Amino acid sequence: MPKSTKKKVVITYGTYDMLHVGHLNLLRRAKELGDYLIVGVTSEDYDRSRGKLNVHQSTDQRVEAVKKLDFVDEVIVEKHKFQKESDVVKYDVDVFAIGDDWVGKFDYLKPYCKVVYIPRTEGISSTQLRAKKLHTINVGIVGTGRIAHRFASEAKHVSSLELTAVMSRNLTHVEEFINKHDILYGFQDFSELLIGSNVDAVYIATPHETHFKYAKQALLAGKHVLCEKPISLEPNQLKELIDIALAKKLVLLEAVKTAFFPGFEKLLSEIKKGKIGDVIEVRASFSKLISDKNQREWSSAHGGAVTELATYPLLLAQKILGESKCRSFHSIIENDVDGYTTIIQEYDRGLSLSSVGIGAKTEGSAIIAGTKGYIYVPAPWWLTKEYFIRYENASMEKRYQFELDGDGLRYEISEFVTLRNLCTPTN
Ligand code: CTP
Repeated sequence: MPKSTKKKVVITYGTYDMLHVGHLNLLRRAKELGDYLIVGVTSEDYDRSRGKLNVHQSTDQRVEAVKKLDFVDEVIVEKHKFQKESDVVKYDVDVFAIGDDWVGKFDYLKPYCKVVYIPRTEGISSTQLRAKKLHTINVGIVGTGRIAHRFASEAKHVSSLELTAVMSRNLTHVEEFINKHDILYGFQDFSELLIGSNVDAVYIATPHETHFKYAKQALLAGKHVLCEKPISLEPNQLKELIDIALAKKLVLLEAVKTAFFPGFEKLLSEIKKGKIGDVIEVRASFSKLISDKNQREWSSAHGGAVTELATYPLLLAQKILGESKCRSFHSIIENDVDGYTTIIQEYDRGLSLSSVGIGAKTEGSAIIAGTKGYIYVPAPWWLTKEYFIRYENASMEKRYQFELDGDGLRYEISEFVTLRNLCTPTN
């Protein structure tokens, strides 16, 4: 159409979770800048990939809410961070409008259209509304090792969670921890932490052999449990913990960070959609070479590659192929400890090979083979920052990339908070 009769197109973007007056003001003002308003609502995957966790409503719910507004003419879904540039060209946009919390961030669109930063409405945000809706969960950390420190740093990025207490048998470590992470209570005794602080939940980050004892005690005391892997070393112990958690309606979650990464979730959904046909084989490795045989990982009591690392490749196999019919372990044993093991599992129509090593180094990649194509996840596959879907026709290859915020633990912590909000403990 000739430029003079063309409608003036305005575009804006946002999550629009729990639509509030700030959103309405922004959208109304945006519409006033032209004749036709297009709103890009972020997809769940995109929000997670940019570290926006705990969004309350699904993409469909948010799209529907925005569509109902009189002054919105069209709603599209924003799926990745490079989309704005192509949308502006595709929709022949005249004005790009966004709240002034983004000042300067979208100036790169100026060669294509006018960029307007609209003043934000003071005193309201979806973050605030979510915080009111979700109860804050008070968490006590059990253990003061490296992973406990990482957890404490990452937990600061998850809303509706407060770290209130820490426990270790070493008082010096407790003192260092509470000072470093600004935590209210420190304990040397686990029972005291359960009784003497206001924790709703515990994160267990102690050596493997203590997990069951602490998890059981916490669940019996009515606390939700996030526990480092493996939760227990015996199947009957795990069953006991699950039974208590179910009876008391408490969350019991194993801290396998990979399960909650955006790239990993997307990979599983591609497989579910049949992108590579029926899965025939899942092959993955994870090795962490530990040359000092005096380290905990080489202890004949509770060490070994399987105990230390198998959770990760077994997670991948289980999520894709489900429960196996039978499994066999093939190990290279040194001083009664498995330094390298391959676990082979058979399913009705498929196989998985999971290799783990503390005494040998191997490539940490994963390959998922299907009847139509395969997925290659380069090392370290357990971060799932990138993967390729490949076919017989090599030109059909597709590459997917994801970003992880921080060191990634915040995704698992955020899932724990969400699950906890879905549970009503019986006590
Ligand atoms: N916005 C606004 N005034 C507010 C809140 C949001 O003008 N009080 C604008 C933002 O600047 C953006 C649009 O509304 O242009 C959508 O923002 P969104 O991120 O969905 O809203 P927030 O409430 O800021 O969400 P969150 O707290 O999750 O970041």
